[in-house]
Amino acid sequence: MNERETLKINERGHLELGGADCVELAQRFGTPLYVFDEAYIRRMMRVYRDTLAREYGENGMVLYASKAFSCKAIYRIADEENIGIDVVSGGELYTALQAGFPAEKIYMHGNNKLDYEIGEALDAKIGCIVADSYSEIDKIDVEAKKRGIIQKILLRINPGVEAHTHAFVQTATTDSKFGFSIQNGTAEAVTAYALTKENILLEGYHCHIGSQIFEKKSFVLAVEKCMDFTAKIKEKLGFEPTKLNLGGGYGVWYTDEDKKLSPEEYAEYVEALVAEVKKQAKERKLALPFLLIEPGRSIVGEAGITLYTVGSIKEIPGVKKYIAIDGGMFDNPRYALYQSKYTPVLANRANEETTELVSIAGKCCESGDLIAVNVDLPKAERGDILAVLSTGAYNYSMAMNYNRNLIPPCVLVKDGEAEYIVKPQTYEDLIRNDLVPERLKKD
Ligand code: LLP
Repeated sequence: MNERETLKINERGHLELGGADCVELAQRFGTPLYVFDEAYIRRMMRVYRDTLAREYGENGMVLYASKAFSCKAIYRIADEENIGIDVVSGGELYTALQAGFPAEKIYMHGNNKLDYEIGEALDAKIGCIVADSYSEIDKIDVEAKKRGIIQKILLRINPGVEAHTHAFVQTATTDSKFGFSIQNGTAEAVTAYALTKENILLEGYHCHIGSQIFEKKSFVLAVEKCMDFTAKIKEKLGFEPTKLNLGGGYGVWYTDEDKKLSPEEYAEYVEALVAEVKKQAKERKLALPFLLIEPGRSIVGEAGITLYTVGSIKEIPGVKKYIAIDGGMFDNPRYALYQSKYTPVLANRANEETTELVSIAGKCCESGDLIAVNVDLPKAERGDILAVLSTGAYNYSMAMNYNRNLIPPCVLVKDGEAEYIVKPQTYEDLIRNDLVPERLKKD
């Protein structure tokens, strides 16, 4: 377990997050339940913000990549911590705006922004759109003209950096659906094109090389490629970008196969990026760009845990022992999608020695509905509270109603106090949009 001040085992032998006893949380709010540690989220946001300010002055901004966990409360926290956000859909934009998030600090991403999403972004006057196709550039230009505005954009470029992570979350290899490749000349061509647009102000470039990456050298290499490209563009097109957005992707601890980094240690990623930007700018005689980073997972990932209640236990002699929980792939599809590994803990008996090798199974009608395979646990019994650690990122945000299971609510804990930030779904929510044609109605 990756313990810290706000994640530990208390004197009752129970898991405690943000000062709240997880067994009590399970009793009060029910399970399955996502629980988020506000202090950790704020600490991570501050580490990134303060390190960037210390190393690079006022000439930069941290954006929280809100696809990792999106709801109104997280946007309030990001706003209070004085950082920006990245959104990737009309839905995330709407949620942020409803939370009162300042539009000028919103960046919009996506490899296929829909016409209405572009319209919504322009109407809201968001700070910047990260364009990722020719047709999108055309659409932004036309819509900006209609509104009599000039929209700031970045272009998403692909530096062709191989990052060590799961294939499905790599984004900057040469066959990626994201970005324009530096190597094959498409990044240069699209730059020349964007510069012809009257209602677009091209400010610079964005790159994101992937997610759950620990190697600093991958990020540093991406900086080198982007700055090298910038120098070439300046020489060839006479355009010198003023902004560089380096994306996110810093890895987090899920199991002891991963590095355990304290929030303060994440500062080293920012330091390494800034050092490389400065070095490259000096060598290539470029002005220092306004620098952005977009961490998502590392801000919320380790801040969150999911609480479940143990139900059926099934032993297949000599083969496997399954511990079934009241959640599963509908609240955490990451094992089903990426065979992601997690660390489960019995929250009500967190001090007990692990004695068994078990697999944690969800309740969906899918053999692949698993949360963890062959993990150590004390002997679990029906009714035990099982906590799965590091579920704050890409769990709630990727949850679904498969089998018409209810997406669990989210609770925010701080100094022992807990309150809903996403309330429980109800069966009524499930049928809210269902319609029965007249001819099918039962009289
Ligand atoms: N910026 C851009 C443009 C991105 O595409 C992403 C993540 C981020 C920032 C934030 O990356 P982070 O710091 O969270 O690694 N569903 C997958 C992860 C997909 C990541 C997509 N892009 C998972 O559950 O592992």
